[in-house]
Amino acid sequence: MNITVIGTGYVGLVTGACFSEMGNIVYCVDVDENKIKSLKNGIIPIYEQHLKRIVNNNYNNRNLIFTTELKEGLQNSDICFIAVGTPMAEDGCADLSVVFQVAKNIGQIMTNDLIVVTKSTVPVGTGHKIRKIIQKELDKRNVNYNFEMVSNPEFLKEGTAVEDSMRPDRVIIGSEDEKTINTIKELYAPYVKNHDRFIVMDIRSAEMSKYASNAMLATRISFMNEVANICEKVGADINKVRLGVGSDNRIGYSFLYAGCGYGGSCFPKDVSALIKTGEIAGYSPKILNEVENVNNEQKMVLVNKIKEKFGEDLSNLSFGLWGLSFKPGTDDMREAPSIVIINELIESGATIKAYDPKAREPAEAIFVNNQNIEFCDNKYDALDDSDGLIIVTEWNEFRSPDFNEISNRLNNKLIFDGRNQFDKEVLNKIGFEYYQIGA
Ligand SMILES: NC(=O)c1ccc[n+]([C@@H]2O[C@H](COP(=O)([O-])OP(=O)(O)OC[C@H]3O[C@@H](n4cnc5c(N)ncnc54)[C@H](O)[C@@H]3O)[C@@H](O)[C@H]2O)c1
Repeated sequence: MNITVIGTGYVGLVTGACFSEMGNIVYCVDVDENKIKSLKNGIIPIYEQHLKRIVNNNYNNRNLIFTTELKEGLQNSDICFIAVGTPMAEDGCADLSVVFQVAKNIGQIMTNDLIVVTKSTVPVGTGHKIRKIIQKELDKRNVNYNFEMVSNPEFLKEGTAVEDSMRPDRVIIGSEDEKTINTIKELYAPYVKNHDRFIVMDIRSAEMSKYASNAMLATRISFMNEVANICEKVGADINKVRLGVGSDNRIGYSFLYAGCGYGGSCFPKDVSALIKTGEIAGYSPKILNEVENVNNEQKMVLVNKIKEKFGEDLSNLSFGLWGLSFKPGTDDMREAPSIVIINELIESGATIKAYDPKAREPAEAIFVNNQNIEFCDNKYDALDDSDGLIIVTEWNEFRSPDFNEISNRLNNKLIFDGRNQFDKEVLNKIGFEYYQIGA
């Protein structure tokens, strides 16, 4: 099939690349000229495992075309995916301005029948608004192309985005048109070969399914963080409690890790947007508001432990910090808890030496001109002259570090671990003062 994907970010680029990998011709359209230029030169603007190989192979095979011209994509396509950003607006709602702009452009430019698929995460009712916008533009042009709207929310996870796209848990198709549903099924068939993973529903329910999924995952995290905070007060160990809870197969082990809060480009904005959707519709969400509140407080838990140890004033103290991205496997710094933690420590007088395997560049852009943070090329270099190690993101390379090297480099054998990577007893035995979350 011939496909246009509008928006070449974390979702659009991975989606486009994975569609092209199965032999489709895919036009990846973006307004960011530098991004398109880089991609044409084989430079992938984000880090995601396996992505570079797939993008470069398919670009060279001419299955994958990068362009800033929406017209070039649309006039050659039967299906068009909208994968632009829907960030949090100031009032907490999803900012749909780019989605609506793209809808208008589609209506102004399309020259043939088209299936328009929303992959961006959008509040309930957006698909119907997009349909109206496109139709209005077609009416203005006095042309009558057939177009069908589909909601096909994306469930890929940054860090495993290519694998998730190649083997999705489910493909939700929000549409009421039988022919359109079959076309989308045909497109996804190679990715769900071993058993049927299609779930077909109306557009509104499909839109809500995405928000409900992210809100459920965020709720599990905040719930476990809350239990972890109680554990600390009463002398229980959240690491053991997690095993006791997760072994119930009605609950399962996924997303039960206590830590220093969730971040990223999705959970914070999607929980907020769902709260707003409820409020606008006349329902005031209770659980979701507390999920947000617990998470905001959780980002401060490590900072509070550091202050309990050293006092409120952290002047003349320096900390090595491992992990900047909001989760391992990605360079994405959007809403990363590390930003809150670093700002708070610097505000209290400390200096930071930070290391991240992939997120150095975007992190440097965030802390540009800040003299109190230095970025290191190597995890151990971040420990030189530091008064303690802080772990914020659980990259694999932090899981079995050389503790001799750590103690040789640090001023104090002191670790504040926001991701509970190590066994407290083992670390205490080798002389480390070790603080974790909920134990
Ligand atoms: N990142 C994730 O893990 C993830 C997972 C599932 C769903 N989503 C949802 O997918 C959507 C996209 O997220 P993302 O993380 O890929 O965003 P992103 O910010 O990485 O990418 C958006 C891209 O759209 C481009 N763009 C902006 N205006 C445009 C226009 N008028 N025409 C063409 N391109 C334009 C931007 O230049 C950018 O490259 C969001 O709604 C998000 O909630 C994201």
